[in-house]
Amino acid sequence: MELDLSGRTAVVTGGSRGIGRAITLGFADAGANVVPLSRTESDVEAVVGEVRERGVDSRVETLDVADTDAVEACFDRIDDNLGIDVVVNNAGINPASALGDPEDVSDEGFELVTDVNLDGAFACARAAESPLKASGGVLINVASVGGLVGLPRQHPYVASKHGLVGLTKSLALDWAPNVRVNCLAPGYVATDLTTGLQENDDLRASIERRTPLDRFADPEEIAGPAVFLASDLASYATGETFAVDGGWTAR
Ligand SMILES: NC(=O)c1ccc[n+]([C@@H]2O[C@H](COP(=O)([O-])OP(=O)(O)OC[C@H]3O[C@@H](n4cnc5c(N)ncnc54)[C@H](OP(=O)(O)O)[C@@H]3O)[C@@H](O)[C@H]2O)c1
Repeated sequence: MELDLSGRTAVVTGGSRGIGRAITLGFADAGANVVPLSRTESDVEAVVGEVRERGVDSRVETLDVADTDAVEACFDRIDDNLGIDVVVNNAGINPASALGDPEDVSDEGFELVTDVNLDGAFACARAAESPLKASGGVLINVASVGGLVGLPRQHPYVASKHGLVGLTKSLALDWAPNVRVNCLAPGYVATDLTTGLQENDDLRASIERRTPLDRFADPEEIAGPAVFLASDLASYATGETFAVDGGWTAR
């Protein structure tokens, strides 16, 4: 058994930047065809180019995962052209408008986050059900430490990520034994999502102090576990959430 994904096709939502881009390129390095999805065509084209440079196939598709009709059509096109063996629900947001004390979070701010992080992930899972069952495939959800513990002033984000951990368990039950469903719970990772934290000296220092490994992760350090979970090396793992958090939740 090896860490080899050749002959398989993976779809990575939010695959154009940050963790999703690293997972996309990690899968391509392991031999998989990979289709990265996001809303920004130029970013998608750039990553598709990097995938093809690795000698595997790809396809330029843009998608807003919160647009459920578009999700269905997009996954159908990918399945018709390349098949689908692995799906990574990675697209996620945590905008300033959804941060703050609970009484300051509007319905719109709450739904903005859950529409993408939770409803969007479920829509993608549902759209991929048939090809994943046919191929004996793998679904990986990207939650957060905020899916395992509470984080102050991030109520929509934490609710959406706890939802994703629950969805992982229930999908794993319903789709066994054909499809394995697992979840990654990253700690703080150096991406566009955390630019504000990285650039604020006090916040960065307090996060680093709170993290036993004493630093933010590089996106590639989340991609490695994703490649493992997609591979046959993880053939008996399903319904589980794996923290990749530098020890954050070990306290
Ligand atoms: N960075 C961290 O510290 C950290 C920690 C724990 C968990 N996570 C989770 O890891 C995932 C990736 O985070 P990241 O840090 O890599 O974020 P990022 O750098 O902000 O990248 C987000 C990606 O998602 C895409 N995206 C955003 N909204 C989308 C939508 N509605 N439909 C489709 N694609 C969308 C973005 O492209 P477009 O904007 O062009 O659509 C981009 O490709 C998220 O689920 C996040 O919650 C991150």
